[in-house]
Amino acid sequence: MTSATAAPILEMSGLNKRFGAVRALIDVDFEVSPGEVVALVGDNGAGKSTLIKAISGAQPADEGRIVFDGRPVSVSTPADAVDLGIATVYQDLALCDNLDVVGNLWLGREARNAGVVLDEVTMEHRATELLRQLEVRTLRSVRTPVSSLSGGQRQSVAIARSLLGEPKVVMLDEPTAALGVAQTRQVLDLILRLKEQGLAVIVISHNLADVFEVADRVVVMRLGKRVATFDARAVSRADVVAAITGADLETAAHPEARAAVHDDGDPTDPAGPEGAA
Ligand SMILES: Nc1ncnc2c1ncn2[C@@H]1O[C@H](COP(=O)(O)OP(=O)(O)OP(=O)(O)O)[C@@H](O)[C@H]1O
Ligand SMILES: [Mg+2]
Repeated sequence: MTSATAAPILEMSGLNKRFGAVRALIDVDFEVSPGEVVALVGDNGAGKSTLIKAISGAQPADEGRIVFDGRPVSVSTPADAVDLGIATVYQDLALCDNLDVVGNLWLGREARNAGVVLDEVTMEHRATELLRQLEVRTLRSVRTPVSSLSGGQRQSVAIARSLLGEPKVVMLDEPTAALGVAQTRQVLDLILRLKEQGLAVIVISHNLADVFEVADRVVVMRLGKRVATFDARAVSRADVVAAITGADLETAAHPEARAAVHDDGDPTDPAGPEGAA
């Protein structure tokens, strides 16, 4: 059963973001429900990371509405997002090599609970518990220094860290980029486990095989716009690729069109028919 029947936990509408003349987000709507995995795909520069950063508060949109758990909210800083229960795992995982797994999990939140500083034993216990819940089996000890972990294990630690705040939405920007086959498997399994636990998951990936492994819905962005949304079980890889490249608009055959669409106020905007739709 799809979670699409559940009411969205996070809904955004009319998101716009400009970087000078570049329109990185153009009237983007986006929504995700509890227990649902949405894959966000699109070519380089399509606006995927910009969308994630608008939700995570790292780089707020210029315009747009965000509704979280049925309430309009404003997310202007990363702390706002974390407080709401929106966790983000960025591609550069920002783990500290010289600390062990426990140290990395608690880094920056130094285990304060209601003002009480937790001791090492409690932190270690919670770290072990969290990784057990996530079924991160390959990790022998939470006292292993992060420098000696594999890429997949590091990604698991980064994901686990994002879960300490007990979020309702988890966003992952390219979690399997640069991972080998077995490590990718491990991260994909982890994503499915988050879904099972009822979290809403947004995952950016350039790897369509990974996308089809985990996603319920596939949202395609192109040149700042959301151009297509597919039920992952009902769409072919070719259709997703066509939406990504804009094969239907022949933008792939006319690379100069890509520049023109970013040219603010160009009346010959090749995305015109779509924009008018
Ligand atoms: N901080 C910034 N300053 C200026 N332009 C930016 C900035 N961040 C993004 N852009 C531009 O906005 C557009 C969307 O970029 P974004 O990083 O969201 O793409 P993406 O879909 O994540 O691409 P990739 O797959 O390469 O990560 C691009 O044209 C990019 O050059
Ligand atoms: Mg990106």
